[in-house]
Amino acid sequence: MEISLSILTINYNRIEEDLKPLASNLKYLHLDVMDGHFVPNLSFGPALIKSLRKESNLFFDTHLMISDPEKYIPQFIQAGSDCITFHLEAVKDPLALIEFIHSQNVKAGISIKPATKVEKLLPYLPYVDLVLIMSVEPGFGGQSFMESSIDKLKYLKQQKLEKGYTYWISVDGGINDETLPKVAPYLDLAVSGSFVLNALNPLENLKKLKHI
Ligand code: DX5
Ligand code: ZN
Repeated sequence: MEISLSILTINYNRIEEDLKPLASNLKYLHLDVMDGHFVPNLSFGPALIKSLRKESNLFFDTHLMISDPEKYIPQFIQAGSDCITFHLEAVKDPLALIEFIHSQNVKAGISIKPATKVEKLLPYLPYVDLVLIMSVEPGFGGQSFMESSIDKLKYLKQQKLEKGYTYWISVDGGINDETLPKVAPYLDLAVSGSFVLNALNPLENLKKLKHI
């Protein structure tokens, strides 16, 4: 299992300085894009990702919490995303979008909100590279982990083993040293933000997660 660091709660004035001490312990950066429409909050867009790309060789795991992602995905690819994850609830034709993302040599992920049934993902499981289960209502960092996500992760792991699928199983929201052990057996990639970045010693907390 790997850790993807969500920079949502970082101090945007000093992203580079704050990431520097963590970078040698990181491979994945989780980039939360919000449009104030699909979720009730705003974050950043492709310009920030592009400027981070110039400074970083980490894997950019871009999480689009936006309506009509098909309109904007080309910009997020151009900005340097390595994987684009869109929300099932936000699109009409997920397969076409997965195909488009793959045609640009970028990995394709699909995500669901806590209220969406995991079975809705079934038609897409053979094609995606990543499945992201939201364990908080998307929109804000620092919320509490929802236990209802555990059964979804178990289901995805079961499907993966039974059918030989290759997607990575990921979870996002409220991941810390107490909640991660509950889901670690089912995961390939754990997203964590505030537990690491809001800590007095971020590197220590990142290492705690990696140890799990
Ligand atoms: C929530 C975001 C998450 C979140 C993770 O909408 O998608 O990536 O920022 O942050 P923590 O770990 O603080 O829940
Ligand atoms: Zn996220």
